[in-house]
Amino acid sequence: MAPKARPLLLLVLWMLPAPAQPGPGNENDGGWQRRGAGAPAAVAEEERCTVERRADLSYAEFMQHYAFSRPVILLGLTDNSRFRALCSRERLLASFGNNVVRLSTANTYSYQKVDVRFQEYVEQLLHPQDPTSLGNDTLYFFGDNNFTEWASLFRHYIPPPFSLLGTTPAYSFGIAGTGSGVPFHWHGPGFSEVIYGRKRWFLYPPEKTPEFHPNKTTLAWLQDTYPTLTPSTRPLECTIQAGEVLYFPDRWWHATLNLDTSVFISTFLS
Ligand SMILES: *[C@@H]1O[C@H](CO)[C@@H](O)[C@H](O)[C@H]1NC(C)=O
Ligand SMILES: *[C@@H]1O[C@H](CO)[C@@H](O)[C@H](O)[C@H]1NC(C)=O
Ligand SMILES: *[C@@H]1O[C@H](CO)[C@@H](O)[C@H](O)[C@H]1NC(C)=O
Repeated sequence: MAPKARPLLLLVLWMLPAPAQPGPGNENDGGWQRRGAGAPAAVAEEERCTVERRADLSYAEFMQHYAFSRPVILLGLTDNSRFRALCSRERLLASFGNNVVRLSTANTYSYQKVDVRFQEYVEQLLHPQDPTSLGNDTLYFFGDNNFTEWASLFRHYIPPPFSLLGTTPAYSFGIAGTGSGVPFHWHGPGFSEVIYGRKRWFLYPPEKTPEFHPNKTTLAWLQDTYPTLTPSTRPLECTIQAGEVLYFPDRWWHATLNLDTSVFISTFLS
């Protein structure tokens, strides 16, 4: 091999796509989980799951049983391993570190928006949720995406293949720290997929308005209100893993809690 060839070969290998994550529970966290001394423990996972999980659901079954009536977790419909590889911490920082992203406060009615460089968000603001701080004081990167600047990433995302008549899909991409989440709110129907990490969901049908404070964090609600709920006032709930997609119907109340530093993308149908 010529002396110059080896560095070139290494460069070519480095540029090849990273190996895909085979599935949930895998060690490949895209570099988003900080381990070692001083790393905060992930929020404990709750085994209870009262949302149905369906593998390889047909469109007819989706429309008949879920689209207008209840949430469902979809498995095996799409393979976003390519998109996942592009969403590693290192790759996103290399491609978008200098882009300005718009952060929102993590409360029910998110009025305040803050613009920061993506690198600053990842390196300085993406920390675990402080359980004593309020949702309206917590900044969260979700939605308000610039689809022109980030087009080279979003074109690799394969959305869930189910559409609803008369609606247009719109993506909302986010990255958030351990223990963060958005408290109860509702809007139109959509899907939410976890790319890295785990996200716990709490859902109530439109007619069952939950008890919550719009400026408190989901973590505070989980600690203060959730334990007081009786079986008949508990939400539907489940923790979804990388590669799983949760569908929420129109106007269903929902709150989320990221159990790890999470990368996620929603497809809103409106
Ligand atoms: C956050 O909400 C609390 C309680 O609703 C309120 O007292 C406080 O002023 C708000 N903080 C900010 C920064 O808006
Ligand atoms: C929530 O916080 C916002 C400002 O962040 C404030 O204007 C609003 O009144 C608060 N809501 C409640 C119910 O305290
Ligand atoms: C998105 O980014 C482009 C290119 O930097 C910029 O011209 C445009 O104003 C941005 N759009 C929004 C909605 O911020």
